[in-house]
Amino acid sequence: MWWSIFMLCILVPLALAGGSLAPWVPTVSSDLRRVQDVVSTKKTRRFLEFGCGDARVSHYIAKHNPDIKVTGIELALPMFVIAKIKSLIWPLPNLTIEFWSGFKKNFWDFDSIYLFAMPDSLKKKVLPKFEREAQKWTRLISYVFSMSDAPGTLKSYEERDKKTIHVLTR
Ligand SMILES: C[S@@+](CC[C@H](N)C(=O)[O-])C[C@H]1O[C@@H](n2cnc3c(N)ncnc32)[C@H](O)[C@@H]1O
Repeated sequence: MWWSIFMLCILVPLALAGGSLAPWVPTVSSDLRRVQDVVSTKKTRRFLEFGCGDARVSHYIAKHNPDIKVTGIELALPMFVIAKIKSLIWPLPNLTIEFWSGFKKNFWDFDSIYLFAMPDSLKKKVLPKFEREAQKWTRLISYVFSMSDAPGTLKSYEERDKKTIHVLTR
């Protein structure tokens, strides 16, 4: 009985989300500052973290940029609950955490979209959506995995012994 509840509430949602974009593997905490530096290279008013996990990136960006409206969206219920509890304990007026698939969000509404997605999902699902919906100035910021085949301008921020952060604009 308890095992079935555990499967239904924890394992199944995590597995489904893992197959949709990526399983939960967080951005390394020591890279949060680098993500912030990349975001601040261009004026951003609306920031989306697609698959926010525990929302560490969303929190960091919202905390350091009170003028940016930050949305974190998460499909796996356990991760959403963690992110939501964090946002209730440490509320930030410019941060919203939403439960659902990021594929249901319109990219048009955002200047910067951050994600840590598996290469296959990035290529086959996220990039076509980005091409369809993003504004000319919208940036797709991908942690670790590159988007080298995608049309547009790609810039990669590399640092020794650190993960690369890739930024695509149309
Ligand atoms: C690799 S983790 C990255 C988490 C977070 N962005 C970070 O960098 O710390 C990917 C996250 O995306 C979530 N996810 C997978 N598919 C999703 C979808 N379609 N919509 C929203 N979130 C999704 C997973 O549950 C997981 O938490």
